[in-house]
Amino acid sequence: MPEPIAQRVAEVVPPRMPRGMDLLDTPLLNKGTAFTNDERTQFGLHGLLPPHVETLEEQVVRAYEAYTRKDDDLERHIYLRALQDNNEVLFYRLLLEHIEEMTPIVYTPTVALACQQFSHIYRRPRGMIISFPLCDSIVRFLRNRPNPHVDVVVVTDGERILGIGDQGVGGLGIPIGKLSLYTLIGGIRPERTLPIVLDVGTNNTERLDDPEYLGWRHERITGDDYFAFIDQFVDAVKEELPETCLQWEDFANPHARPILERYRDQLLTFNDDIQGTAAVALGATLAAIKVTGKNLKDQQIVMFGAGSAATGVADGLREAMIEQGLSEQDARSRFWLLNSKGVLHAGRKDLTPEQMVYAQRESRIADWPRTSNGNVGLADVIGQIDATILIGLSTVGGAFSKAIVCEMARKVERPIIFPLSNPTTKSEATAEDLIHWTDGRALVATGSPFAPVDYGSRTIPIAQCNNVYIFPAMGLGVVASRARRVTDAMMLAAARTLAGNSPALKDASASLLPPLTDLRRVAAEIAVAVGIAAQKDSVAAQVTDDALRERVMATQWTPAYPSYCSSA
Ligand code: NAI
Repeated sequence: MPEPIAQRVAEVVPPRMPRGMDLLDTPLLNKGTAFTNDERTQFGLHGLLPPHVETLEEQVVRAYEAYTRKDDDLERHIYLRALQDNNEVLFYRLLLEHIEEMTPIVYTPTVALACQQFSHIYRRPRGMIISFPLCDSIVRFLRNRPNPHVDVVVVTDGERILGIGDQGVGGLGIPIGKLSLYTLIGGIRPERTLPIVLDVGTNNTERLDDPEYLGWRHERITGDDYFAFIDQFVDAVKEELPETCLQWEDFANPHARPILERYRDQLLTFNDDIQGTAAVALGATLAAIKVTGKNLKDQQIVMFGAGSAATGVADGLREAMIEQGLSEQDARSRFWLLNSKGVLHAGRKDLTPEQMVYAQRESRIADWPRTSNGNVGLADVIGQIDATILIGLSTVGGAFSKAIVCEMARKVERPIIFPLSNPTTKSEATAEDLIHWTDGRALVATGSPFAPVDYGSRTIPIAQCNNVYIFPAMGLGVVASRARRVTDAMMLAAARTLAGNSPALKDASASLLPPLTDLRRVAAEIAVAVGIAAQKDSVAAQVTDDALRERVMATQWTPAYPSYCSSA
């Protein structure tokens, strides 16, 4: 039974509904030319709008026309941001109808330009800027937030923005763009998102020398002062927004992991660069294994690169292997990780605790050839074992040579080969080479985008491991299940559900990962799995699966105009 109109109106109309120009200037309530005649009468809008009352669909057509008139991607980004600041429903509906075309404009890669140009294209406030000199007032600042109820905060300190490094206050563009995708795909209500930049200075001289730079003109705060500031920020979030999901974004490596480790057991929080990227790579790997029809526990996995991304992906795969019944020791023995000094083994003294987990017994490699400066290199490993999966997270462009790939493909029917390093120049191989060198047998996913590859009579789409497959769904999952923490099992559940939605499972020539146009549906499925995992980990209250599914569906907001008139 539909809800009574009075109840629906009460939900969307704030107690003190603005009128006239104030209403037209409130992007969360504005409908522009779509205000009905009744609404125009009730809220003093007659005379302020052209007489024809448009539908949302008509507005979308007009907005798209304006969008296509823009000359370059930055102009398109500026246009969309202006639309967002004018009418949020229209912005999201336009995005939804052109999701493949516009996602790269609102988010990566165009958002990088918007961060660089932040001070030059700044128009209206969105989100919050918390500057170091005012660190004693963070709680008071947070009380100035535009909306009291916040489901998701994305926060950056602007130091490691995408591939373009330190952007200082300009980093705010990233949380803004990312939260747009939380809403577009995850369905987190726009008024319940809050982008934040922690303005701790910048070491980017171009920014510091720019007379128009809008941030705190100071070199970056480091060391104890930096961590004390982060502590103050987290304390303020705990006080003001205790149930909000706090997502860390684009922090530099020396800060990212310590911050995550420090707070992950204190509040509802995750780091998308660490956990989200691992989950999507894991999801693609699990999808590829399913396509081969083999078991995860029978894989021999070679990872080229043994940094934070590689150990994160390996940890997820290892956990999943253990769930399939392998012992910890057996699971570890199936991984061959390499860094610039060759394969990780127990005799090495330079390994971090995260890497030690994957150190092979020395006896296993004792009589292997060592062609790489006396170390056991990638070609040596591939020559000695029957590798089924080869993942590149090394930043070494072209490292997967034809000889290495052909040797792997000689011994396995469907080699799974993922060159995941970004940007494209650092990809360990091109998708086209991998498909051709393996006679079209390789299952390929990449870190950077690659065009579909023509091979024989087939056109093979190449899946790009993009975090967008995980973070909006994780947001929806924690909000709908009212989780108190983000656990590893919740990330694993997200990766598994993503894998289960691989189009390649139904159609061998399809992509390993779903198209953007299907992501809202997939996000809802992932959110349910995340909620179930949260309950199993006792970080969310128990409800039935059906109740959880209903909550997910009810939480996932769809851009449409509500009626503001009780008489409508
Ligand atoms: P990192 O700096 O922590 O790790 C890089 C690793 O590669 C280190 O272990 C390093 O020793 C190794 N390496 C460097 N040169 C090497 C060489 N010549 N031979 C063998 N190993 C070498 O970096 P992180 O964060 O792990 O990222 C690595 C790459 O993966 C980046 O390009 C990043 O953009 C990409 N990435 C892609 C993801 C995706 O899903 N598409 C997810 C996360 C990271």
